[in-house]
Amino acid sequence: MKKLIAGNWKMNGTQDSARALIEQIETGITPEIAAACDFVICPPFPYLSTAVKQVATIAVGGQDCSFYNNGAYTGDVSASMLNDIGCTYVILGHSERRQYFHETDEGVATKAANAHAAGLITIICVGETEAEREQGRQESVVAEQLKGSLPKGWTAENTVIAYEPVWAIGTGKTATAQDIAAMHAFIRTQLGSDTTRILYGGSMKPGNAAEILATPNVDGGLIGGASLKAEDFLSIAKAA
Ligand code: PGA
Repeated sequence: MKKLIAGNWKMNGTQDSARALIEQIETGITPEIAAACDFVICPPFPYLSTAVKQVATIAVGGQDCSFYNNGAYTGDVSASMLNDIGCTYVILGHSERRQYFHETDEGVATKAANAHAAGLITIICVGETEAEREQGRQESVVAEQLKGSLPKGWTAENTVIAYEPVWAIGTGKTATAQDIAAMHAFIRTQLGSDTTRILYGGSMKPGNAAEILATPNVDGGLIGGASLKAEDFLSIAKAA
């Protein structure tokens, strides 16, 4: 399986910085890297359309989409709109959405069903908090999130899972390779699928990427902070 290197830009950048970052990333993807990795970048909504027009080889995705398909839902962006402008992926259920925007598993499943119907590949995020890990509940928490967030009829083709321990996101802390291996094996069993990509996310950086990406059942990374610097993003891909 080729590794999927996904960049979650979150709410960062400007039109100009987005253009420059895409140009630097694409210039840096050597044939060797392209043979080992697929790429997707997820810029903020306003920059998606120009990103789609600019990219030559990498995919573009949204960071979220609406529960609804169209209509009077002020401020929302639907999965079919993302598809319409040329996006092929959407991140759903990121812990920041769950934490700050009160997203639930059920809501994530509704969004994912819409996204699949619109032809998008979903990157569905799961992961425990620090307190849940301290209580030894990480597996039950993740199992419940998977059960609740995956829509009926999901397939290995339209769904990617991102395991992101909440305490590792943007904190510089990463799970140990052993913990990652255990959780990814657990997720693989829960999914009952050998071909679904399972990404790791949470403070993935050039310095730890080689070890993480070599861990069994780690099929790529969902990268936040380090995806905003072409050099770091590409080093992570090189490590794969
Ligand atoms: P981070 O973010 O790499 O900055 O920890 C990962 C993510 O939130 O997807």
